[in-house]
Amino acid sequence: MTADLPPGGLPLDELPTPALLIDRARMEANLTAVAGSIGAAGVALRPHFKTSKCLAVARRQLAHGAIGFTCATPAEVTLLQDAGVEDVLWAHQPVGPAKVAFAVRAMARGGLTVALDSTEAAEPLSEAAAGAGVTVPFVLEVDTGLHRAGVDPDRAVRTAAALTALPALEMRGVLTHEGHLAAHGSDRAGLEAAGALAGRTLVQIAKALRAEGHECPLVSVGSTPGATSAPFAEGVTEARPGTYVYFDANQVGLGSAQIDQCAQTVLTRVVSAQRPGTVIVDAGIKAMSSDSIATAGTLGIVCDAAGAPLDGLAFTGGNEEHGYITGPGTSGLRVGDPLRIVPNHACGTTNMWSALHFVDGDRAVERHPIEARH
Ligand SMILES: Cc1ncc(COP(=O)(O)O)c(C=O)c1O
Repeated sequence: MTADLPPGGLPLDELPTPALLIDRARMEANLTAVAGSIGAAGVALRPHFKTSKCLAVARRQLAHGAIGFTCATPAEVTLLQDAGVEDVLWAHQPVGPAKVAFAVRAMARGGLTVALDSTEAAEPLSEAAAGAGVTVPFVLEVDTGLHRAGVDPDRAVRTAAALTALPALEMRGVLTHEGHLAAHGSDRAGLEAAGALAGRTLVQIAKALRAEGHECPLVSVGSTPGATSAPFAEGVTEARPGTYVYFDANQVGLGSAQIDQCAQTVLTRVVSAQRPGTVIVDAGIKAMSSDSIATAGTLGIVCDAAGAPLDGLAFTGGNEEHGYITGPGTSGLRVGDPLRIVPNHACGTTNMWSALHFVDGDRAVERHPIEARH
């Protein structure tokens, strides 16, 4: 789809700013590299769709061997099901009447698995599914250290027994999101060790469940920082990285990527330069993500129009449609100058935009919708 772009695309200099850009060569390189390393681990690749929310990107992930997708929201599930994706893991607890009703409808279409971690979450779903004559495949969500959703490992067997005793529920396996690895910051060795431990912990739980007579074919780990460790634990069956498709400033800080692997940038322009040491750009908090795990206090890494990082410049603040770029490097910037910003968090940035541009070199060549946003 190339809506709003003339045949052959547009030079970046002619694109209205701000604009969300995806460097296609970098994205393809990321897809190739991570598919290769997950393949080397001998596990399936099930990317998280929340990073792109874009079917054009999802199609490239399928072309690189993804077996299906992970989702966080009903809208993401629907978008993928409508697009014909047959294997979708909704890695969230379907709680509340609307989500329960949605889950049952979506289950009836086939190919959907949900995450559960308690009978409180599962009972209304079980009842609704039994009433509709639908079976709900689920994975037991386990907390391997993030302390978000998921049962503690020592309660996994008991919780699985309670869940599988409920009508219309069918356990497919176990899942963890090893998001706690980010707490290791730039300590790559510590991060890798924690990822390997998360993988081993999940495998141990799968074995304990099998020993109790449960079917447990799926052992699913998932994160970008953990993609080089957790999937390599013997017995893991699939990996669910999401951010890897673009990478971002947080992943650079964690040592999961180099800056020249970051495919997503926000193209912006200097629109005002009234005070020494600061310039104002036309990308503010409605264009960026302030969610920083490794880049505290900034809104992303400032790069030149070709995507190379610039010294002496920091994106230190934003109002809705204004960004504050500060530092000694501002003396070299003039009103009208283009900049590209590598966002802190690719997934949060995606959710700010209704479309992205694929970029080849210095040309925007395709424009694609970003859908299923809140
Ligand atoms: C359940 C689940 N799986 C996989 C991922 C992907 O992790 P990452 O964003 O580090 O690639 C996430 C990210 O939030 C997640 O919540």
